[in-house]
Amino acid sequence: MMLHIPGVLTRDQVVECRRALDAADWVDGNVTSGAQAAQFKRNRQLPQDSQVARAIGQLIGQALAANPLFMSAALPYATVPPLFNRYEGGEHFGLHVDNAIRAVPGTGERIRTDVSTTLFFSDPEEYDGGELIVVDTYGTHEVKLPAGDMIVYPSSSLHRVEPVTRGARVASFFWTQSMVRSDWHRHMLFELDSTIQTLRAKQGDSPEVVALTSHYHNLLREWAEL
Ligand code: NI
Repeated sequence: MMLHIPGVLTRDQVVECRRALDAADWVDGNVTSGAQAAQFKRNRQLPQDSQVARAIGQLIGQALAANPLFMSAALPYATVPPLFNRYEGGEHFGLHVDNAIRAVPGTGERIRTDVSTTLFFSDPEEYDGGELIVVDTYGTHEVKLPAGDMIVYPSSSLHRVEPVTRGARVASFFWTQSMVRSDWHRHMLFELDSTIQTLRAKQGDSPEVVALTSHYHNLLREWAEL
């Protein structure tokens, strides 16, 4: 399932983050790549231990925890600290797949990458090209979102970033291990939760809403791994 989550960060937060990101020292993006992806990757990233990456990463972490759509769609068990990339002057990232397992820096822990997220820090008018192209079983999807918006998609997808031919594309990206490994199960839980929320807004906690909520939790109990 791919999900566009609008307004994860406010305009003011985006402006403040961009000021810090534009002033930061960027390095070759291949610091975090596996050998195969490195052949296709031309961009820059913030070093993981950079002050700016940590500060904005914390802000993103708080925004995610407070975002009901992200929580419902990703059912996060653990998320790696956000990384940041910058593409300009023709930089791009060819079709690749992300590693299934990622180390969480400084902890000795690893997570399974179930859900990939890109949070945009550039508005679409600021740059040409730079579309995130995600290929899944339902076809090819092209993503270019307003700054502060986020796209969530299965980490199992092949994906690429088109060359940026004007301006700069600045974004954050990160991986989440979900409590529910299967993308299909997560999708069904998300749809059920959304329907329950809609019904609940219309009729309050009616006996039917309570019963459906019980079904939701029983399915989650069946499928969740902690
Ligand atoms: Ni990738």
